[in-house]
Order: sequence, then C-alpha cells, then structure tokens
Amino acid sequence: MDGNGRWATKRFLPRLAGHKKGLDALRRCVRLCMERGVGILTVFAFSSENWGRPPEEVSGLMALMASALAREVPELAQEGVRLHFVGARANLPAKVQAGFAQAEAATAHNQQLVLNICFNYGGRWDMAQAAAKVAAAGQALTQENLSAAMALAHVPDPDLLIRTGGELRLSNFLLWQAAYAELFFTDRLWPDFDAPDLDAALAQFAQRERRFGQTSDQLSPSQAN
Ligand code: IPE
Ligand code: MG
Repeated sequence: MDGNGRWATKRFLPRLAGHKKGLDALRRCVRLCMERGVGILTVFAFSSENWGRPPEEVSGLMALMASALAREVPELAQEGVRLHFVGARANLPAKVQAGFAQAEAATAHNQQLVLNICFNYGGRWDMAQAAAKVAAAGQALTQENLSAAMALAHVPDPDLLIRTGGELRLSNFLLWQAAYAELFFTDRLWPDFDAPDLDAALAQFAQRERRFGQTSDQLSPSQAN
C-alpha cells in the first residue's frame, strides 16, 4: 500500500493525513475483495525498515493503528473478516499488541475473508525467524519445514501481488511466498486505489498464463501441435 505520503504532500497536507486516507482505502479494498470473491487479502502496512522514518511519523502510524483497531474491528468482525497480524510484536506499543490479540480473538471464527495485516514485518525477518524455529525444533532445513514455520503458514502463497505508488520493487514483502505470484504495478497512489484499479489488476491476472516452470503445451495439451 504505497503512496500515502505523496498523496498528502501533493495536497500540502501532513504525511499522516495520507496514512489516514490510506486506511480508508484499505477499508474500501476489503469490501471490494469480498464482493469479488477474493478469499485472502494480505497487505503491507508497516515494514521492519519503516522504524527509520521520522519519529513523529512512526508514532503517528502506531497511534493510527491503535485507533483503527478500536474503530474498525467490531464491523469487520460482523462482516465475516478474519484478521491476522503478521510481524514481530515484542517491540510494538502495548496498546497495539493488545489490539492485535483482541482483534484476532474477536474474528477467529470468521470465514468470509482472511485479512492478513503485515505490520512490523519484513520478508527477511520472516525467513530468519522461520529458520530459527526449524533449527530449534531440530528439524531439517527443507522448503516444506521452512514454509510451515513462516508467519504466513496459515494461508497459501499469493496468486497476485499488487504494488501501488509507481515503484517497481518488492521492498522486502513476501520474499519467500511471492516466488510464483503474478506481479501488478500501478502508478496509482494507495489512497486513490479504487474499484477500477482492483478490477484492472484482476483482469490482467486473468490473462496471465501461470506455468510454474512448465511449458505452455504441458498446461493445455489439447491445443498443442
Ligand atoms: C505507504 O505509503 C505506507 C507506509 C509505509 C506506512 P508511504 O508513506 O510510503 O508513501 P510515499 O511512498 O511516501 O508516498
Ligand atoms: Mg513509500
């Protein structure tokens, strides 16, 4: 969900105003995904590296998360959303940690949409913590064991990865899980991301041939020769 800061700066607003709008965009995106039958949505809200931002932006983001949890979780719970917070928790404000635990408990039985919010997350962090877990359990460092130890082990690998805001990089998101994800990049700033953008991504996804290392002929033998 990239582009909140630029969205605000373009309007001579403080960056935090962009993050607030970004939250509205996430709320909208969750509803759109449910309407379109998407079962799992995983979003990158705060990276391991975002701690390096100016302290007032970091504390503003933490406060925004705490207030969003209090405001949005009851409704999300009612709509059938199951929340998971993915990332290191120990160094987060107590209020945020408690909000995460409460939100997960309140939505644990929901099945309409799994919403993974990656917060204080990094793909490298996940791989390292998974490897440490596997090693501590005395297991072999196999792909299967590592996958099972990842913070996102409760969901399958993503089919489609969307990055807004115009940058053409992964920035430490889902490094392990995105091995075969279809990538979609858009210049749209996250606060502006709306139904036509999501539908454009889904339409492009539908056009992609997913070969997973195989050949085209292997996928549809009837059309070969
Ligand atoms: C993404 O928007 C939101 C977070 C990382 C919290 P940015 O804040 O990175 O927005 P830009 O890239 O400065 O526009
Ligand atoms: Mg950015």
